[in-house]
Amino acid sequence: MIDRRQLLGALAAPLLTGDSNARAQTIGLGAIAEQAGLLFGSAFDREILTDADDRRLIAREAHIVTTENSLKFDWLRPNGPKADFTIADQLVDFAARNRLKLRGTALIWNDNPPPWLYRLSSIEMRKIFDQHIEETLSRYSGRIHSWDIVNEPFYPPQGLTGGYRKGPWYTAFGDTYIDRAFRRAAAADPKTRLTLNEAFCEQDDALGRSVRANLLALVERLKTDGVPLHAIGLQGHLKPALPFDDHAFVEFLSKLASFGVDLFITELDIDDSAMPDDVAERDRLIARRYRDFLTSVLTVPAVKAVITWQLSDRYSWYADLAARKAPAGRAPRPLPFDRDFKAKAAADAIALAFAGRKA
Ligand code: G3I
Repeated sequence: MIDRRQLLGALAAPLLTGDSNARAQTIGLGAIAEQAGLLFGSAFDREILTDADDRRLIAREAHIVTTENSLKFDWLRPNGPKADFTIADQLVDFAARNRLKLRGTALIWNDNPPPWLYRLSSIEMRKIFDQHIEETLSRYSGRIHSWDIVNEPFYPPQGLTGGYRKGPWYTAFGDTYIDRAFRRAAAADPKTRLTLNEAFCEQDDALGRSVRANLLALVERLKTDGVPLHAIGLQGHLKPALPFDDHAFVEFLSKLASFGVDLFITELDIDDSAMPDDVAERDRLIARRYRDFLTSVLTVPAVKAVITWQLSDRYSWYADLAARKAPAGRAPRPLPFDRDFKAKAAADAIALAFAGRKA
């Protein structure tokens, strides 16, 4: 823990110097969050194996990290049922060496299945489902703070009854794949916090409202049926160009919390594609959205963790998407640190939102 004087000095530094990096030299966002009883961190992945600057940034700013891709089914088993844990092991070891809490994500996800999975019969699919959960969770048992056991169960535009997302696991089990995943995960790693992770809930459009309603009903049903469920992850891929209502989102969070679960903001970043080209203006708008969203969300006591989807713009999934769409196009700036790992106004906004939370 840091003393109040040091905290106030760190928060004032960027305001006094006009340099967002002034804070970062003295205290990381994770330490400021800890003052308010909150865990802060970010996604990371195999880039840390070769990028020392990224390793340093994560070690300084994060207290919890999420493997962005390397613990996903299609990354562990790209070509067949036999898993290759080589990279995942290195990432788990990096987190342990740096005393970072670790999240695993998308243990079970109906999106991005490897093509070979569709060549299996339903019986073979059910077998690999159980084998994957057992093998993956028991391999890291006791080392994972929390797992996204099921990711994105809903996608109403696909038209399935109940708004469920189509995919191999839904095909094999119907919606009971969710119960099965949580019960078998609890047996394989009794220590990890079993989390249900969802997208779109932050939007106040037809998609966001329908996913919120479906998620509330599912969480109530799982808890009523005694399914082991400890936390709900709300991804937080904010898209300011779409309708949003932070007050409605906070009401939704409070309803979720009433079922006795913790809440994690698991993949926070801000889509700047509809914002002006001017970098200073874009950074200002991004910082304001981080400030407003987090100030609202942190009024909910059940919110225990805020995790950005990477720390540096260099490794944002938006950068990947932009590079594929238009290699010479505008570089996205969705995260608290720029491509050169320098703090931006967003980092100051996040620090102030954390410091403003009543612990
Ligand atoms: O690195 C390879 C590159 O060498 C190759 O040329 C290229 C062509 O396919 O693929 C590149 O890998 C891509 C990887 O992102 C790069 O980081 C994979 O194809 C692509 O599937 C992968 O996408 C990931 C996506 O989940 C699907 O797993 C993103 O990194 C990751 O940020 C994204 O994260 C998801 C969360 O898990 C769930 N919530 C939404 C979030 C954003 O889509």
